[in-house]
Amino acid sequence: MTPSHRIVPVDLGARSYQVRIGPGLIAAAPAHLAPLLARPRVAIVTDETVAAVHLPALTAALDAAGIAADALALPAGEATKSWDHLGRTVDWLLGQRIERRDIVIALGGGVIGDLAGFAAAILRRGVRFVQMPTTLLAQVDSSVGGKTGVNSAHGKNLIGAFHQPSLVLADTDALATLPDRDFRAGYGEVVKYGLLGDAGFFAWLEANGPRLRTDGCALLHAVAHSVAMKAGIVARDETEQGERALLNLGHTFGHALESATGYSDRLLHGEGVAIGCALAFDLSARLGLCPQEDPSRVGAHLAAMGMPARLADIAGALPDDAALIAAMGQDKKVVDGRLRLILARGIGDAFVTGAVGRDDIAAVLAASR
Ligand code: NAD
Ligand code: GLY
Repeated sequence: MTPSHRIVPVDLGARSYQVRIGPGLIAAAPAHLAPLLARPRVAIVTDETVAAVHLPALTAALDAAGIAADALALPAGEATKSWDHLGRTVDWLLGQRIERRDIVIALGGGVIGDLAGFAAAILRRGVRFVQMPTTLLAQVDSSVGGKTGVNSAHGKNLIGAFHQPSLVLADTDALATLPDRDFRAGYGEVVKYGLLGDAGFFAWLEANGPRLRTDGCALLHAVAHSVAMKAGIVARDETEQGERALLNLGHTFGHALESATGYSDRLLHGEGVAIGCALAFDLSARLGLCPQEDPSRVGAHLAAMGMPARLADIAGALPDDAALIAAMGQDKKVVDGRLRLILARGIGDAFVTGAVGRDDIAAVLAASR
């Protein structure tokens, strides 16, 4: 690794692994993978869009290193995180005779990482996998921490398993081909880290967020800092018994909005998280938990980054408040039918609470339309 690379350890005892972040890691992948391989053979799961732009470099590098690789390219998009594509992937891996000691590589965004990780978790009762995230969202969040799964008609991510990767290789060069809208959506998860637990990082993002697309050093810092925050939380609370729930800041609102927009291009996951973070601060201020100026500061930064911050920013009609609150009730944090939300005492100081009335939630939803 060169000084332009960072290594963030995820300390989980026997299941510990490293997140290696920096430019050129797709081409350099064979050297990083070699120590993990029981035989010179890998299976790659990707999507059709990523396959067109980054798969050739990976397969050429593997071929040059004498590592055989076959790839399955699934359709791009959230709809792929489904039972159908999970079954297709597992059958393909079995057809490729991927064995217990082999490695599955997830090359793509959060959709591919979540689906391929879940496929690896259930294939032959568990094979190892390596995350090679190619979106900003996947590099800062979904590739780290071992949450894998698919969506259900009942809601997002309701079917899945904790299955930690053996290694994460986050090639920051890969983000150059990411459309602006997907880059900005991933930024929603970056902002989340500042909002939930690091006011200094949020202030750094206010100053530096606009240059992340063009400044490799700033991008490397933002990705590595986000990953380090996530790695710390995951190491302390791998299976979300407590602190890890803070990583869901904005997600209960966001998942309901994604459901309401049919998991379509009307609202990308990270955009839902951004609006959800803004709503969480609106609600916190309404309840007198955080300073009244914090929601304006959050909204102003999201707007400066060209991101949606309000329900009004979502194109087309949305269900009424009662329907949105009902959709929020499918959240995995619900206990005994009661919503639990992540709110904040201020920027960088989030906490979990079950003490929020539906009238207050409805009021902030209405004000955001
Ligand atoms: P995604 O995987 O759908 O990728 C977004 C789009 O970018 C896709 O069209 C993809 O084909 C394309 N793409 C990916 N890399 C590219 C590249 N380098 N160049 C050009 N195009 C590229 O979506 P996402 O935003 O990466 O991830 C969202 C998913 O992640 C959601 O399903 C969400 O639930 C999940 N998620 C999981 C966790 C977790 O902890 N497991 C955390 C956050 C989000
Ligand atoms: N993205 C939320 C988590 O990993 O817990």
